[in-house]
Amino acid sequence: MRILVTGKNGQLGRSIHKLVNTDSKIDNNQSSDDFIFVGREELDLSSESSISHYFDNNDKLDIIINCAAYTQVDKAEQEVELANQINHLAVKQLASIANKQQVKLIHISTDYVFDGEGDKPYIETDIPNPINIYGKTKLSGEKALQVVMPMNAIIIRTSWLYSEYGNNFVSTMLRLGKERNELNVVSDQIGSPTYATDLAGTILEIIKNKEFREEDQATQIYHYSNEGEISWYEFAKEIFKIAKIDFKVNPITTQQYPTPAKRPRNTSMNKDKIAEIFSIDTLDWKESLNKGIYCLIASNKYN
Ligand SMILES: NC(=O)c1ccc[n+]([C@@H]2O[C@H](COP(=O)([O-])OP(=O)(O)OC[C@H]3O[C@@H](n4cnc5c(N)ncnc54)[C@H](OP(=O)(O)O)[C@@H]3O)[C@@H](O)[C@H]2O)c1
Repeated sequence: MRILVTGKNGQLGRSIHKLVNTDSKIDNNQSSDDFIFVGREELDLSSESSISHYFDNNDKLDIIINCAAYTQVDKAEQEVELANQINHLAVKQLASIANKQQVKLIHISTDYVFDGEGDKPYIETDIPNPINIYGKTKLSGEKALQVVMPMNAIIIRTSWLYSEYGNNFVSTMLRLGKERNELNVVSDQIGSPTYATDLAGTILEIIKNKEFREEDQATQIYHYSNEGEISWYEFAKEIFKIAKIDFKVNPITTQQYPTPAKRPRNTSMNKDKIAEIFSIDTLDWKESLNKGIYCLIASNKYN
């Protein structure tokens, strides 16, 4: 097997790398040597010619896992063209190459394709309606992929990703917990956190799955996050509780914390489909947060 993972320096890319190299998530027919991790130095998604060059000059793959993306939600409002190139046009190009070369593609998308105005957790067939540039470009990527690659691809929408790598909400809270005594956190945006290691494990489960490996499977969208629907305020409070940091968190409204990009109100997603098709256990957010904070503190990455 030859499995390409893009975004090797990102949260998800690094979490897949960690699992592939340290534990039993890969099956007996696979080894860590089957995985090729690339960053923008090897495969620059902002450049059409870099993408073509990479695939023209490397051996055929069996699976591509696209973890690379333009993920700066606020900055995307200014860098519309770059976000669109990486999240939309590059995805279309990857899908077209994968389709031509009969390579399976797993692509990661976001809960921010939804407007957050629903009254129950979103299912995969609900109509997306992104309210910021990041969400719009991610949705364009999903749509282009589905047109170019109607078979043999999987789109996984995830939400509120954190890990022991890079900057994320959990590492930011832990750092601020050292620098300040109190903090205002938005309490009227609801969603579900996702520990990147859990998503990485889910992706490795999927590529082991017999049905996924069969040829000519219709392209599908799945939702995946940890279990539980909370606000950023509740998330922050639990982070300080687990880390045993005595810290005052004050709830505020979105209106009191304006950002360049609008945020959806409630993007909780229903995960029944992925759980049923791939026998995935979606883990409780607090349980995963405990593991995540333990790993973050052990790696000392939030200093
Ligand atoms: N983070 C979240 O809260 C969240 C929520 C929902 C969905 N998602 C989705 O989940 C996936 C993984 O997110 P993540 O949190 O792991 O993202 P991340 O930590 O921001 O990593 C993204 C990676 O993409 C790479 N990248 C950016 N521009 C590139 C380019 N031009 N060419 C090649 N690589 C490029 C970055 O490279 P450098 O390291 O060199 O910058 C980085 O390694 C993404 O599809 C994201 O949209 C994330």
